[in-house]
Amino acid sequence: MSNDGVNSGRRRFLVAATSVVGAAGAVGAAIPFLGSWAPSARAKAAGAPVRVNISKIQPGQQIVAEWRGQPVFILNRTPEILERLKGIEGSLADPSSKESEQPSYVGPEDRSIKPGLLVVLGLCTHLGCAPTFRPEVAPADLGPEWVGGYFCACHGSRYDLAGRVYKSQPAPLNLPVPPYSYETDEVVIIGVDEETA
Ligand code: FES
Repeated sequence: MSNDGVNSGRRRFLVAATSVVGAAGAVGAAIPFLGSWAPSARAKAAGAPVRVNISKIQPGQQIVAEWRGQPVFILNRTPEILERLKGIEGSLADPSSKESEQPSYVGPEDRSIKPGLLVVLGLCTHLGCAPTFRPEVAPADLGPEWVGGYFCACHGSRYDLAGRVYKSQPAPLNLPVPPYSYETDEVVIIGVDEETA
């Protein structure tokens, strides 16, 4: 591993963090009364929960929120994407998330409360770079076996669209699932669940 790789990874995270702020702003603009919800910058820094309106995420699209200074990937998974999660278990390092970090109330394989919505921390479990969302099937640079997932360009780790890492990657574990809950069908609260409320 070269320092260049790590440094460029950090640069990428900074860029990602900047776009996270942009995404959060966009979400805020879509929620007129967000001002009454949004925690202050100081509260955010201390780890306050973050409410995210998920109603505008198009099928197959992802937004990036920010919680505790970390990017959180929120993906609207179509039935076709969910279908692609099946049958690859043998290629994954921890397909049922026995070793990986996730709350007890999410499914072991789809790793979500509602299968149509994935919520994972966007930090590679190798050295913490931000993986890239690559939902397309068999793109030239990732090869014919690629069925959509997250690719960490720092050292090449590959994850599926449940954030499960493939075998023999630099990253040892799946992308962590943070605590979260549904306030309504359209609003997810990251950082609060029945166990922490
Ligand atoms: S940080 Fe090394 S593969 Fe992601």
